[in-house]
Amino acid sequence: MDIESLLIHGGVDGDKTTGAVNVPIYQTSTYRQSELGVNSGYEYSRTGNPTRYALEKLISDLEGGYAGYAFASGMAAITAALMLFKSGDKVLISDNVYGGSFRVLDKVFKNFNLEYELVDTSNEKLVEEKVTDNVKAIFIETPTNPLMTITDIKKIAGIAKNHGILTIVDNTFMTPYLQKPIELGADIVVHSATKYLGGHSDLVAGLAVVNSKELAEKLHFIQNSTGGVLNPFDSWLLIRGIKTLSVRMDRHIENARYLAEFLKNHPAVEKVYYPGLEDHPGYEIHKKQANGAGAIISFVLKESFNINEFFKGVELITLGESLGGVESLISHPATMTHASIPAEIRQKVGIVDNLIRLSVGIENKKDLVQDIEKALNKSKNI
Ligand SMILES: Cc1ncc(COP(=O)(O)O)c(C=O)c1O
Repeated sequence: MDIESLLIHGGVDGDKTTGAVNVPIYQTSTYRQSELGVNSGYEYSRTGNPTRYALEKLISDLEGGYAGYAFASGMAAITAALMLFKSGDKVLISDNVYGGSFRVLDKVFKNFNLEYELVDTSNEKLVEEKVTDNVKAIFIETPTNPLMTITDIKKIAGIAKNHGILTIVDNTFMTPYLQKPIELGADIVVHSATKYLGGHSDLVAGLAVVNSKELAEKLHFIQNSTGGVLNPFDSWLLIRGIKTLSVRMDRHIENARYLAEFLKNHPAVEKVYYPGLEDHPGYEIHKKQANGAGAIISFVLKESFNINEFFKGVELITLGESLGGVESLISHPATMTHASIPAEIRQKVGIVDNLIRLSVGIENKKDLVQDIEKALNKSKNI
């Protein structure tokens, strides 16, 4: 089945008992047992819930994995994946990942002696050099948040396999509609489903998909033991969001391409980061491993423009955290999503103070350009 159909009919398609075309919301914490040790496959909703299971099976089908797991947020999914490792192990991580992924390693897992190192994972030679004995996983985002750096998933997964370690890919920006890391050799895919998968900025959720029975057993054990599960209603909402992913994503991309061209040619803009532009570093690699450039654009305003005036100037586009919803959102990575990354690291990797991240929504593209144009005109320093 093609992914466009799988988005609608994958996982558990409707309800067999009643014929309802949608999976019911099983709003229950527990289940009747007919006798000691005999149940219908569910015993307690932290361990398993039919609505959550429908979502977990759906994301697993979409990513081409062995099993999927749903969590209360993207960070809960990433945290669960990182709990596969133990004290003394080390994880290599892309050097401009989402700030929260950096923060959980730097401020939480560090206390448990799980080591990490930021690496430019677009440079495979560098990654190979960094894989020392205690490195147990390479965690990548491609394209990265916010600089859209491209990593060759197949090559990194190849290096990881040669060393017997895991490749974890945060596929939030692409979704399985555009990129399938497991088919490219990754072992685990994680998502902030809060973003494109949900698609309507109305829920917070995380998903993780694994490629083997062994990892599935381990991750389910962690999910059940630590308990950061997604509730039945949000599981249902997420299934509902996923159904329209392909049409939303096509429109997101069409708009993003239009805006990227506009920004590239605008005199106020110093630099545009968008993997759909032919001069974007890694353009060819991205084209090979993904079916579209996505709809996140980062750009740097020239010094002669005032960034705060620009943020105050947009009206249709909302200044706010998050991305991937139907509405366009704009943010300032240095003080918002990536504030937890120390200033010197931010500067080093290119998250400069004049950098703006735009999550292009599905509004009319000409209205979006008009909104940005107006804000740019207002932001010129006189
Ligand atoms: C790429 C990426 N991964 C993970 C996360 C964390 O997800 P959540 O906010 O759902 O916990 C985010 C959030 O912005 C993100 O952009």
